[in-house]
Amino acid sequence: MKVTVVGAGNVGATCADVLAYREIANEIVLVDIKEGISEGKALDIWQKAPIDLYDSRTIGSTNDYSKTAGSDVVVITSGLPRKPGMSRDDLIGTNAGIVKSVTENIIKHSPDAIIIVVSNPLDVMTYQAHLTSKLPRTKVFGMAGILDTARYRAFLAEALNISPKDIQAMLLGGHGDTMVPLPRYTTVAGIPVTELIDSDKLNAILERTKVGGGELVKLMGTSAWYAPGSAAAQMVEAIVRDQRRVFPVCMQLDGEYGIKDCYLGVPVVLGKNGIEKVIELDLNTGEKALLEASRKAVREVMDVLDKLG
Ligand code: NAI
Ligand code: 2OP
Repeated sequence: MKVTVVGAGNVGATCADVLAYREIANEIVLVDIKEGISEGKALDIWQKAPIDLYDSRTIGSTNDYSKTAGSDVVVITSGLPRKPGMSRDDLIGTNAGIVKSVTENIIKHSPDAIIIVVSNPLDVMTYQAHLTSKLPRTKVFGMAGILDTARYRAFLAEALNISPKDIQAMLLGGHGDTMVPLPRYTTVAGIPVTELIDSDKLNAILERTKVGGGELVKLMGTSAWYAPGSAAAQMVEAIVRDQRRVFPVCMQLDGEYGIKDCYLGVPVVLGKNGIEKVIELDLNTGEKALLEASRKAVREVMDVLDKLG
């Protein structure tokens, strides 16, 4: 399998590294616009192979998309990251232009690729890639929910003093402060989380999860990369190994959850064809209201993109 990662910055290089050392793809192409950066990072990952014992081949390319030809999956991480004081939405104008040109190049050389968008603002960059690629919605979608649930699960594991491996969780909505974590669909080895933690502690964790990206931006002066890079690689793995994993994924809704023409995170089955199935949960009134607030917030940013043309 051949996988291209566009953007050899923090998230893209981490994703390529995980794809290589976990042998998720046998050929990985890292592309960046900055001269030499993708070649250098790809060479560094390749030189780690004899140490970590993998044989995935990683090559770099400075904006030459002919090297990406025939990719099965492409991950788009190119764009500016958040800096302190910036929301994800502040990135819209610049990153939309980048995602548009990158998507055009990808489609030219890999018309059958499945595209995973990571660049922010995530939901709207997924919209941009979908518009540009003209692929079916099952083949162009965004990574955010795996990261957001991972943060939620990590905070819960810490609070309960148990392994994060045993925590299962789901969330819905946009990748922003209006995301909708779902305590009703959170379990610890099958036990509803609400039986193990009091509601004040759980609510504090839910609130921390919603601003989980901002917490890291404040600490580091730029946004996170280890968990985001691994999360994108996990989506690639589900596709190339046809695992049919169930993940929250950002996609265009077409009537699911009573929502049309908006890009939001929902649970899906991910396999060799991309999104194999959308799972519709039976939401209660409170959850529906939170999802509607998230829809409105994402729609406003989609409208900004529409006005930018
Ligand atoms: P970074 O600045 O480390 O890397 C971005 C790379 O994109 C740079 O190397 C830059 O040269 C490259 N680039 C810019 N324009 C390009 C173009 N036209 N073609 C090819 N490459 C180009 O940033 P980082 O930390 O890797 O973040 C990347 C993006 O991912 C940001 O938009 C960030 O906000 C987003 N992000 C999204 C997350 C999510 O959950 N969806 C989580 C973390 C980051
Ligand atoms: C994150 O959630 C900023 O979207 C980025 O870490």
